[in-house]
Amino acid sequence: CASSGGSSGGGTLIGPNSPKVAAAERARQIAGARRTSVKLAAIQAEVDLGGITANTWSYGDLPGKEIRVRRGDLLNVELRNQLPQPTSIHWHGLALRNDMDGVPGLTQGEIVPGGSFTYEFTAPDPGTYWFHPHSGVQLDRGLYAPLIVEDPEDGGNYDTELVVVLDDWLDGLGRTPDAVFDELRANGMPGMDHGSMPGMPAMPKSDLLGGDAGDVIYPHVLANGKVWKAPQAFATKPGQRIRLRLINAAADTVFRVGVPGVPMTVTHADGFPVVPVELDVVLLGMGERLDCVVTVPDRTVPVLALAEGRGLFAQVTLSTGVAASTDSEALAAELTKLVVPEMNALRATDSVALPLREPDVTHDLVLEGPGDQYSWTINGKVYDPTDGLPIRSGQVVRLRMRNKSQMFHPMHVHGHTFQMRANGKIGPRRDTAIVLPNRELIADFDANNPGQWLTHCHNVYHGEAGMMAVLSYV
Ligand code: C2O
Ligand code: CU
Repeated sequence: CASSGGSSGGGTLIGPNSPKVAAAERARQIAGARRTSVKLAAIQAEVDLGGITANTWSYGDLPGKEIRVRRGDLLNVELRNQLPQPTSIHWHGLALRNDMDGVPGLTQGEIVPGGSFTYEFTAPDPGTYWFHPHSGVQLDRGLYAPLIVEDPEDGGNYDTELVVVLDDWLDGLGRTPDAVFDELRANGMPGMDHGSMPGMPAMPKSDLLGGDAGDVIYPHVLANGKVWKAPQAFATKPGQRIRLRLINAAADTVFRVGVPGVPMTVTHADGFPVVPVELDVVLLGMGERLDCVVTVPDRTVPVLALAEGRGLFAQVTLSTGVAASTDSEALAAELTKLVVPEMNALRATDSVALPLREPDVTHDLVLEGPGDQYSWTINGKVYDPTDGLPIRSGQVVRLRMRNKSQMFHPMHVHGHTFQMRANGKIGPRRDTAIVLPNRELIADFDANNPGQWLTHCHNVYHGEAGMMAVLSYV
C-alpha cells in the first residue's frame, strides 16, 4: 500500500485554475452564506512599537486590522500594493480554493507595485487564522494580521476574547529582512549570541527543543505590535474568562507563552478543537496558533511571551485595576524555568479527528541544512515549483517529516489540516507543527482539495532558502 514519494507521477497536474478547483469551491459553499468585503493596502509607513518608531511595511497597523467572518462566509479582499516590491497574500491555515492561496509562481502571479488583486473564497472551517505575503521574506517587515472565522454554533465557555499576535522585530532602518537574508547567504549563520535584555537572565534552552533558537539576531520581540516596556493593556475584571487567541507571526522565533499563576485551558490548535487540557506554559512555532481560556485573577497579570533561547520577551497586560504584585521581568525569568510540555500530545476532539488509517501514499520529507550559501533542503533539494510530490484526490496522504538538522522547523501544509500521530495515538489536527531536531513527525491528511499546494518550513528564512516543496494533485 504505502509507496514512497519521489516520482513525479506522470499524470496531468491539476492546476489552480482547473474546473476541479471551482467544483471544490462550490462544494464548500453553504446556503445563506454572507459576503464580507474588505479593502486592504500594503504600505510603507511609520508604526509605533511603544516608544520606538519604525518605518516599515504593513497593512496600515501592526498587527494589521483583524478580519472576522463566520464559518461558510464568502470573503472578498481587495489588496492594493503600494510597496516598491511585488507582493501577495496567503491565508494561512484555510482550506480554500487553490487559485486564492496566494503563492506567486504557483497559484497566481505576483501583484506588482501599484497593482491590485482581489481574493475571494469561502472560509470553510471556524478557527484562529492569519494572513501574510508569500513573497520573499516580506512577512518579517510587519505584513501580517489575524483572520478569525467564528463558529455560530460555538456557545463558548468564555466571556470575552483577546487576540495576541507575536512577532520578532528587526531594528528597521538599514537592516531590512532582505539585507539580513543576503547576509545569511553570504556569510552563513551568525554566532548564536542573541544578546539579552538588560536585567534579564539568558533563558535556558529546554530539553524539548534541544537545537538552536534562530538564525537572525533580533533586538526586540512584540506582542500586538508593542515592545515589552509599553504593553497593550486589556481591560478586564476578576473572574472574567478570556479566550486568548495566540498567533505566532514571527519569522524566526518560537515563543513560550504563560500567564504566571494562572492555568491556561488549551481548547484549539491551529483553529481545530482539542480535548481541553490545563497547562502553565505552551509553545508556539512560527505560523502556529493556540486558543486558551484563562480566568482572570483578582489582580493585574501579564500574558508573557518569551522568545525561546533569545533572552527577550513581550507581553499583553490583563488589567483588573488592582496593581500587579510582581514585575513582569521577574515573572518572565520564572517562566523560563518551566518545562514546556509536548504540544503534540494535544488530542483532536472526536468531532474533528481523522481516524487512524493506513495511508494510500507516503511522502518522506527529510529536512536538512544549512548547506552552501545557507541553503535549506527537503529531500536534498531546494524549492522547485515544477517538481511536485504527487497526490490524488481521495487518497489518505501521509507526510513523514524527519529533521536531520539542529534547528527546529515548523512545517506548514497549505490548503489542508493534517492529523498528527504520535506513538500510534491521535494527536492534534494542525496545519503547522514543529519538527524537533533529530526527530520525526507523522502528518496524515485527506486529499480533498485539488490544486498545487506548498508544504514548507515557516521559518521564513529557511523557506526562502529552499525548504519548500509542492504537493501536486495529479
Ligand atoms: Cu503562513 Cu506558506 O505560509
Ligand atoms: Cu526551518
